[in-house]
Amino acid sequence: MGGMWSSVRPVLAWVVVVLALLAGCAGRDAAPERQAQVAHGEALYDTHCIDCHGGATGGDIADVPPPHNAQGHTWHHGDCELIAMTLQGLPERPGLPDDVPPMPGFANELDEDDVRAILAHIRTWWTPEQRAHQERVTAQVCE
Ligand code: HEC
Repeated sequence: MGGMWSSVRPVLAWVVVVLALLAGCAGRDAAPERQAQVAHGEALYDTHCIDCHGGATGGDIADVPPPHNAQGHTWHHGDCELIAMTLQGLPERPGLPDDVPPMPGFANELDEDDVRAILAHIRTWWTPEQRAHQERVTAQVCE
């Protein structure tokens, strides 16, 4: 047993070092760009969405307008659906409470990259399970 460990241990150590280096490189490349996108999305969200949809916490899945955080159902929809709803808005429908205006369309103010940034910001409010689920939905329903 001891003999086997002494030959396996250095190999394991190398594997750990190489994995750590790989993870470090990947993180370094993606992080600043991603942070800038999330910050851009946060600024847009605070200007255009937060008054109706609320912020990082609070609210309930039955609320209208729905919260976009982990209490809501935004994470049930694919990226392409969320982008289309945000740019085009949603039609007035029976069942919307009288004091709630329908979801306005933002195509005159925002483009697709802006909405992707907003989604990157909203995503930081979701649990890892919700994020994973929403990635699967996006892969299924969006090209
Ligand atoms: C004037 C209030 C108002 C503003 C401002 C507003 N929304 Fe909405 N939004 C609504 C309402 C109301 C609904 C629900 C419509 C329904 O149930 O038919 C909705 C629904 C949605 C939905 C579909 C439900 C969901 O969570 O998946 C998305 C996505 C959405 N809004 C995104 C946004 C984004 C992004 C912004 C900011 C760019 C925004 N909304 C700004 C009122 C608003």
